[in-house]
Order: sequence, then C-alpha cells, then structure tokens
Amino acid sequence: MFNDRNINDCDYCMSMYRQDQTLLNLITEAMKDEKHDTIKYKKMIGMTDKDKVRKQIEFAYKDEMKHYKMFQNIVYMLTGKKYDVPDPKVEEYKSLLPAVESSINGELEAVELYRKIFSMLRTMQMRDMLYEIITDEQEHATRFVYLYSMLK
Ligand SMILES: [Fe+2]
Ligand SMILES: [Fe+2]
Repeated sequence: MFNDRNINDCDYCMSMYRQDQTLLNLITEAMKDEKHDTIKYKKMIGMTDKDKVRKQIEFAYKDEMKHYKMFQNIVYMLTGKKYDVPDPKVEEYKSLLPAVESSINGELEAVELYRKIFSMLRTMQMRDMLYEIITDEQEHATRFVYLYSMLK
C-alpha cells in the first residue's frame, strides 16, 4: 500500500502541519500582545493632559488596533476562520514614565517576534502586511524613546 514516496510525502505533510501550528501559536502570541498594548496605551492616554504627549501615545494606540485586525486577516488567509483572543491582563502604573519605559521594551520585543513570523509566511501579501507592522513597531519604539526623554 505505502511505497517510500507516500511515506516521504506524509513526513512532509506532518512537518508542514507542525510548521503551521508553530506559526499560528506565534500569531496568537502577537494578537495577545497587540490587544495588551491597545488596552495599555488607552490607559496611558488617560494619564496625561498634555496634548503633545497624548498625540504620541494615540499614534501607537491606533496602529495596534490596526495590527490586531491585520493579524486576524492573516489567520483567516491561513485557516479560513475568524479568530479572536480574550482581553489579556494589563499591569497597573502609578505614573506615565515607567509605563513609557516598559513600552519601549515591549515595542522592541514585538519587532523580534514579528521578524520570526515574517520568515514563516509563504505569500508576498502576508509578508507585506508583516513588513508594515514591523516598521510601525519600530516607529512606536522611536516615539516612546522621544516621550521618555520629554518626560524625564
Ligand atoms: Fe502593534
Ligand atoms: Fe506598537
């Protein structure tokens, strides 16, 4: 029944399946992070009455909502299913400065994770989407560094 070729094909299928599972797990991680940052930045916007400060955070806040939808679209392209993650718990901050500081790290860690996801995507369309998200996160990191020096 099974010749060598069938068995090889099956191994190949299994390894593709495992790769897809890993990819979907990483995207789930990404969607949790996007949701986390959306909630965190909304809180941070409420912690300042300075327009100049608020605008910088609002910029990232709007992007994270866009990113979440983009990841949802990617999951749809991969699985044909609409996917959502529950709201993650967001840490509390007493003042804006430590929240800004942890956001710098968060943005840079996101870039690392998204590079990994980028390398696992197989179509140009999905890679273009990741490229847009990665460059947005790099911009957020720069904006938060600027904010940090402004508030310090
Ligand atoms: Fe994002
Ligand atoms: Fe971001």
